[in-house]
Amino acid sequence: MTTASPRNAPRFSRILGTGSYLPANRVTNAALAERLARDGIETSHDWIVERTGIHARHFADPHVTSSDLALPASLAALEAAGVRPDEIDLIIVATSTPDMVFPSTACLLQQKLGIHGCAAFDVQAVCSGFVYALTVADSMIRTGAATKALVIGAEVFSRILDFKDRTTCVLFGDGAGAVVVGASDEPGILASELHADGRHVDILCTPGTVSGGEVLGHPLLKMDGQAVFKLAVGVLEKVARSVLDKAGRTDADIDWLIPHQANIRIMQGTAKKLRMSLDKLIATVDEHGNTSAASIPLAFDAAVRAGKIKRGDTVMLEGVGGGFTWGAVLLDY
Ligand code: UT7
Repeated sequence: MTTASPRNAPRFSRILGTGSYLPANRVTNAALAERLARDGIETSHDWIVERTGIHARHFADPHVTSSDLALPASLAALEAAGVRPDEIDLIIVATSTPDMVFPSTACLLQQKLGIHGCAAFDVQAVCSGFVYALTVADSMIRTGAATKALVIGAEVFSRILDFKDRTTCVLFGDGAGAVVVGASDEPGILASELHADGRHVDILCTPGTVSGGEVLGHPLLKMDGQAVFKLAVGVLEKVARSVLDKAGRTDADIDWLIPHQANIRIMQGTAKKLRMSLDKLIATVDEHGNTSAASIPLAFDAAVRAGKIKRGDTVMLEGVGGGFTWGAVLLDY
């Protein structure tokens, strides 16, 4: 990676192409309820749909890692962008379920892409990870530190779910989404904003680690759903309005809203606060569940390929999750 003086740097970055990948194993609410019932844990399709909007999620096979899911998502994004892997000079993977403690999932993905030498690192901001990673890529492109970046959200959350805890294990799924971001004379990414509040580390966490060759702590996801819900509802409207202000736009300018896909009630509530018709809300939570850092790029790619999001449309991306972290990116696609 090299840096150029801001004077010589491109002024904007824009998304050149999108891609995504879901593991084949689609698990319906009914199938999950049946699995939990074998351990005496009661849940139902109706409860899950009513409280979250989720109908199904995808689970990766046991040997499949986040970088395995990131690879086909990246190749699809590169193809859509018309960019060769060897043109990429920055790889950022947002994940909370990395393949290993180290090296980074981004380095493992770089190896799988058959390219060498470019900067590659992971971003850990849980469900806000993609918005964080995209903001970092945008900043590096604007300063001339990179010209073509691959930004990915990839997760195998099924590995850290506690299938004895019905309040969390019905919510999450696995998958990957990717975008290629390139330097451009035209915007592009218009504005972004990132936040974190570490006072709330305990409400959504996987408080385990590896030490002395053993797993220490609790290596499965824990969440105080109602506390997360309340915080999420509060920050999502605020950060969206702040990013609109920075970009000199208003909520009427947003063509598509892609919030983190955790719960349809939070997503619809945010759209209403932004005075948006629900037709403009991109929702894939019904089929994907909550795929953490992968949820926004998965939804983005699905909407592009369905012909909803078109070139020139203004899109608001919003992440929120563990940390507590949140942020938003406003862009012209
Ligand atoms: O990805 C990061 C961002 N994450 C989020 O945004 C998640 C935010 N939180 C939520 O989406 C919601 O809080 C949940 C979907 C997690 C839970 O919905 P809720 O409406 O807050 O339900 P609750 O926790 O108040 O639980 C209501 C009832 C409880 O029973 P009682 O105490 O009323 O008898 C739970 O024990 O539902 C029960 N319950 C279930 N019942 C059937 C909890 N989980 C289940 C389940 N099946 N899977």
